[in-house]
Amino acid sequence: MIRVLLSENTPGAADEIARKLAQADDIKVVGYARDGLEAAQMAVQLEPDAALIFTDMSGMDGFQACHMASLAAPKTGYILIAPADSNNQETWQKAMNAGARGLVTTAASADELIAAVRQAGALTTHMAKPEFQLVTDVSKMPVTIAVTGAKGGIGKTTIATNLAICLQKEFPGQVVLVDFLGQYGDVPLFLNMQPAGGLGELMLLEELDADMVRAQLAQHSSGLWVLAAPDGNDMSRIQPNIRVPRIADLISILRSEYRFVVFDAPPLVGDVSWYLLSRCNYVIVVTYLIDLAAIRDTATLIETLINSQRPAESIKLVVNRRSQRNPFSTADLQQTVNHDIAAEIPEDSTAVTSALNEGIPLVLKAPSSPVAHAIRGLTQDIIAELPKRGQQGQG
Ligand SMILES: Nc1ncnc2c1ncn2[C@@H]1O[C@H](COP(=O)(O)OP(=O)(O)O)[C@@H](O)[C@H]1O
Ligand SMILES: [Mg+2]
Repeated sequence: MIRVLLSENTPGAADEIARKLAQADDIKVVGYARDGLEAAQMAVQLEPDAALIFTDMSGMDGFQACHMASLAAPKTGYILIAPADSNNQETWQKAMNAGARGLVTTAASADELIAAVRQAGALTTHMAKPEFQLVTDVSKMPVTIAVTGAKGGIGKTTIATNLAICLQKEFPGQVVLVDFLGQYGDVPLFLNMQPAGGLGELMLLEELDADMVRAQLAQHSSGLWVLAAPDGNDMSRIQPNIRVPRIADLISILRSEYRFVVFDAPPLVGDVSWYLLSRCNYVIVVTYLIDLAAIRDTATLIETLINSQRPAESIKLVVNRRSQRNPFSTADLQQTVNHDIAAEIPEDSTAVTSALNEGIPLVLKAPSSPVAHAIRGLTQDIIAELPKRGQQGQG
C-alpha cells in the first residue's frame, strides 16, 4: 500500500485529487495539508511514501515546502503539482532543485496522477533491493586486491593463489582469483585446473555483462572462482583488445558480483596494469632479499604507487623467501624502500615446490607449514582491517 500525503492550494483541491486517486486500490491517503508549511511538517511527521504538493501553496510555497521536506524526510517521494500552463523547462528545473521526484500539472488525469504516485512512492521498495544493501552496508563492500611485484619469479602467484584460498575459506563462494595477463597460465598450474575459457575470451567480446563474465569463470574444488589468463598462443589476437575501458568494465562487474577479487598481476606493463592497480583497495607488493636489483625496483614501484595518490596503508609490502641465507636483511630493505613490512614469508623450497608439482595450494596441502602460516596471517590482517557493519569508511 502506498501511503500518500495530499495538500491543497485552494479549498477543495485535495478532495479532487483524493477522488482521482481513489481509483487505485494500492494508494491510501494518510493526511491533508492546507498550506506549504503544514505540508512540509506533515511529510516529516507521517513519512508517507509519496506527497503531492501544489507549487502555489499559501505561506511557504510548494517548492520551498518540498525542498525542506525532502531534506528532512528523504524516503518520501515528492510530486509537485504546477498550474496547467507551467509544464515547461523552468518549472521542471525548479522542481528538481527542490528535490521533487515528479511534476504533474493540475490538468493531470487520474491515470497520470496515479502513475506519478506509484513511481515516486516506490523509494522504500528500492531500498529493500540487494543493490541498495551493497551500496550502504560497508560490511558488504567489495575488496579488490592486486598481488604484484617488481619482477617475475618473486612469488606473486604463490602468494595470490594461497591468499585467495584463505579468503575463500572465510568467505565461501565470494572470492574470485584473476590470473591477470600472466603469460604462462600460472594460476591454473598452481591449482591444477584446466579451465576452458578465461580472460582472453572476455577481451574478444564486443561488450561485457555479468553473465558473460560468469561463463568464463572456473571453480576450484575449494570453491574459489578462477578467471584464467589468456592462452599464450592466442595472445597476438587478444592483445589489441586489452584496453583500459574493457578492463574497467571487467573490474566493475567482478566487484559487483564477488566480495573479494584477487588479481595475480605481473610487473607493470603499461596503462592497463596501472589502471588495475589504481582500482585495487590493496596492492600487495611482493619482494625478496635475494638481489639488490629486486630491492631497488621494489622501492621504485612503491614510490610510484605512493606518488599516484595511493594511501600508504593500502600498500602491503611482503617479503618472500625469507631465510638466514638471504644476502640482505629486512633492515636493508626498509632503508631502501621506506615502507613498513606487512608480512614475511619464509623460504621453504621443499614445501612450495611439492605443492606446485601437485597443484595443491600450500595452505591446503600443508596448512601447518610456516609458509602457510605466514600467508594466513597476511589474510587475517586484511580481514581485520575491513570496515565492519555500521562503521563508516572505505574498504
Ligand atoms: N616462500 C618460498 N619458498 C621457496 N620457494 C618459493 C617461495 N615462494 C615462491 N617460491 C618459488 O619461486 C618460484 C616463483 O614463484 P611464483 O609464485 O611463480 O613467482 P611469480 O608469480 O612472481 O613469478 C616458484 O618456483 C616457487 O615455487
Ligand atoms: Mg606468476
